[in-house]
Formats: sequence, C-alpha cells, structure tokens
Amino acid sequence: MSSSSSCEVAPQLQPLAWLLGKWRSDEGQAVYPTMKLFPYQEELEFFQTGQPNIQFNFNSCNPENKKPMHKETGFIRIDPTSNKVAFMFAMNIGLCSLEEGTVDGQCIVLQSKNVNRMSFGKEPETRKICRRFELKDGVLKQTVQMETSTTALQEHLSVTYRRVE
Ligand code: HEM
Repeated sequence: MSSSSSCEVAPQLQPLAWLLGKWRSDEGQAVYPTMKLFPYQEELEFFQTGQPNIQFNFNSCNPENKKPMHKETGFIRIDPTSNKVAFMFAMNIGLCSLEEGTVDGQCIVLQSKNVNRMSFGKEPETRKICRRFELKDGVLKQTVQMETSTTALQEHLSVTYRRVE
C-alpha cells in the first residue's frame, strides 16, 4: 500500500498536483439565512493513493473550544481525456454528494450531480451544492453555496487556507 502527498505526482493527476498536501484555514466562516454567522477552523488533506485518484479528509472545529464539527472525506477522479473532475464526498452529517466540474489551471469549479442523505436526517434537506477551490498567491480559497428544501441557492462557506507541509 502506498499513500503520499510529497513524492512524485502520478502523470494522470498532474492537473491537481497543486492541491496535494495539508492545508490549514486562516479565516473561515459559515453563513446562511437560517443561522448566525459562525467562524470556524478547518484542515484539509489531499493525498495520492497509488491509484489514479486522490483521497481527501476535511476536518473542521469550533475555534474557541476546538470541538470537532463538520467532516468530509472522499476521493477525486480526473478524466484522462479532458479537464473534467469528480469529487465524491461522504459527510458526518449523513450526506453523500457526487460533485462534478472542471479544473482550469489552479481553479476547480464543481456542482453536485446528486446529494443523498440518510433516511433519518434532520430537516432541511440539502438539494444542491456548488463549490469552488482556487489557489492564488499561495492562498487556497474554498467557497460553498448550498440549496436546501427551504432556502434558495446561496453561500454557506467561505474559507481561506495556507499550506502546512
Ligand atoms: C458542503 C458541506 C456542508 C453542507 C452540505 C452543510 C449543510 C448544512 C445544512 C443543511 C444546514 C442547516 C441549514 C438550515 O437549517 O437552513 C447547515 C447548518 C450549519 N452548518 Fe453546514 N454544511 C456544510 C459544511 C459546513 C462546515 C464546514 C461548517 C463549519 C463548521 C458548517 C457549519 C454549520 C453551522 C454552524 C450550521 C448552523 C447550525 C446547525 O444547524 O448545525 N457547515 N449546514
């Protein structure tokens, strides 16, 4: 078994090489019309698996008491014949989303193809997720927009990260 973020990048994963490694948030906030603005901290890790995919772990916490909050884990696949990418997310809130889009330079734009949730999940239901990752001047930014069964598509997350290794 092999997994690595620092050794040579497999040729088919080169378009996403800029994402590999560990990132720590410097500023992050969750917003939504139904909630108070919530600042949070998060670490992202993207690593090679020895197969033509990238595995990732996102872990957020409350910045004051460091209690774990939202978590996401999954895999990224890249179409070897185009700039299409697919991110498969499993979330600790009982959601799985398959998000597809494109990578252009150091920017990834994704839209959920489907969002599945457990049958006993809390309302409201997440219906759609639009996500963007962009690396500019050493700062990685992630933004997430979300549509639920009660709220139209709008921003839920905006967070910037710096590389930690
Ligand atoms: C794509 C990833 C995420 C999805 C799909 C998601 C989904 C949701 C949903 C459906 C709600 C309820 C909204 C409502 O009641 O109208 C919510 C609320 C909330 N989310 Fe997220 N969320 C995500 C990521 C995060 C992250 C990374 C954080 C950071 C800690 C976060 C923090 C919160 C907070 C503080 C609330 C309000 C309190 C609560 O209802 O638990 N979310 N989220």
